[in-house]
Amino acid sequence: MLSKVWSAATLGIDAVRIVIEVDCQPAQQPGFRLVGLPDAAVRESYARVRSALNYCGLYVPQRMITVNLSPADVRKEGSRFDLPIAMGILHALEFLHDDDVRGRVFVGELSLDGTLTAVRGTLSISAALAGDESIRELVVPAANANEAAAVRLTKVIGAAHLNGLLSHVRGREPIEAATSSATAEPHNDQADFAEVRGQAHAKRALEVAAAGGHNVMMIGPPGSGKTMLARRLSTILPRLSLDEAIVTTKIHSVAGTLPAGSGLLTRRPFRAPHHTISTAGLAGGGTPIRPGEVSLSHSGVLFLDELAEFRRETLEVMRQPMEDGFVTIARATKTVTFPSRFTLAAALNPCPCGFFNDSRRECTCTPIQIARYLAKVSGPLLDRIDLQVEVPALSSDEVTATESGESSAAIRERVERARSVQRERFRRTHVQSNAEMTSRLMRRHCELDGSSRALLRSAIDRLGLSARAHDRILKVGRTIADLAGREAIEAAHIAEAVQYRALDRSWFRSG
Ligand SMILES: Nc1ncnc2c1ncn2[C@@H]1O[C@H](COP(=O)(O)OP(=O)(O)OP(=O)(O)O)[C@@H](O)[C@H]1O
Ligand SMILES: [Mg+2]
Ligand SMILES: [Zn+2]
Repeated sequence: MLSKVWSAATLGIDAVRIVIEVDCQPAQQPGFRLVGLPDAAVRESYARVRSALNYCGLYVPQRMITVNLSPADVRKEGSRFDLPIAMGILHALEFLHDDDVRGRVFVGELSLDGTLTAVRGTLSISAALAGDESIRELVVPAANANEAAAVRLTKVIGAAHLNGLLSHVRGREPIEAATSSATAEPHNDQADFAEVRGQAHAKRALEVAAAGGHNVMMIGPPGSGKTMLARRLSTILPRLSLDEAIVTTKIHSVAGTLPAGSGLLTRRPFRAPHHTISTAGLAGGGTPIRPGEVSLSHSGVLFLDELAEFRRETLEVMRQPMEDGFVTIARATKTVTFPSRFTLAAALNPCPCGFFNDSRRECTCTPIQIARYLAKVSGPLLDRIDLQVEVPALSSDEVTATESGESSAAIRERVERARSVQRERFRRTHVQSNAEMTSRLMRRHCELDGSSRALLRSAIDRLGLSARAHDRILKVGRTIADLAGREAIEAAHIAEAVQYRALDRSWFRSG
């Protein structure tokens, strides 16, 4: 008998339904054949499936088993078809009735003893099935149930073992549908701005960055708190909307980076890849194609610590994703797109030894060494970084200060207010924040009055700023005005924005 069982495959962060046809013919030479573009992990599937069936006391008689996965043009990657293949074999051999498999979508890897183990991408699958009335249930490994149920539109059954699942589909011992709770958000385990002493200037710069969606670079000597500050940037970004949470969770689901048993992610990601990361690790790639750090940090923060240590080619691959908000990975057989809208935070010492312009220690670098060092970062990314802020070493008074600073929650309040001004401003565009303004939008929303224009002009002359720096200052000035609840960009807002051009300052450039 020919059996048809439904499963699903992910494509980027979306999913499509796959039909698995299983045919079992009596044969002199028993065997197993897979057709329909299966990759290596699918081809190994039968060994696991047969062992799992045996373990459950189900012996597959001597047959020629043919499994066809369709549509044939979708690459089926990974081990998630173990379960539907097992169900298809049992159905083809008439261990299971039509009713037992009809209207169910099966996804899951089997271990040799019949335990169902977690697979990637189940949130994408359940989202793709939502609203399809031909589907009764999505069956996933128990470890994926919380994640798959997070969209709440598809009935999800989480099964721990093949035996339990067989009782369920036969209606003997039904498994209750999964209900998802969002990942709990324990407050105390998360870093908070209240722990940062001093560094008012840098903290303020991060607040501006969060408020306007600006990328930010911090420059300072070792131990001044750059890494500590960057880690807290994601805690002051606006809370995730439901749509953002779903997309973010899908990316991590497909990448396999969701914590075990978790449902919808409720926090913005913070990613800090090491400078030795490969271009594929950063932009995405591999087989099967996985999202890279630019996508894993989507809706959150991508932190590049020790920016000057990254290879130029590595930084080069971030250009396009940063520009477009998504990254496309093309292969001979298919093209996959992942979202990549993140806030970039970068940290950097001012020179190779780290102590250039430090009040406590002498810098041992030559001017040429410093120039060469800074030239490494002046290329591809600097254009996209609106805020460059100095983070000097703390004074002894600051180090010993006991009063705690403002909490992340309080700062986030202001950030969210500034964001709602921007939402209103850009209502009819694709732009989400001041940082994304086009030159046309800037002409419209960044007009300066006489005194602020005069101030900007004199800063440009004094610091020798480029036209690009001019635009950055205007955008940042817009955000500072939004934080102040002002319609017009005033001279004080421009004066503050000019402060965030540390690398343009003459003492750096003459260094
Ligand atoms: N402003 C600060 N408030 C409280 N603790 C701080 C501050 N700055 C530094 N520290 C302490 O010093 C440690 C080192 O700081 P951090 O790693 O952030 O420095 P860094 O600027 O990134 O240095 P490096 O250039 O060596 O990477 C932190 O873990 C923290 O305990
Ligand atoms: Mg550091
Ligand atoms: Zn130095």
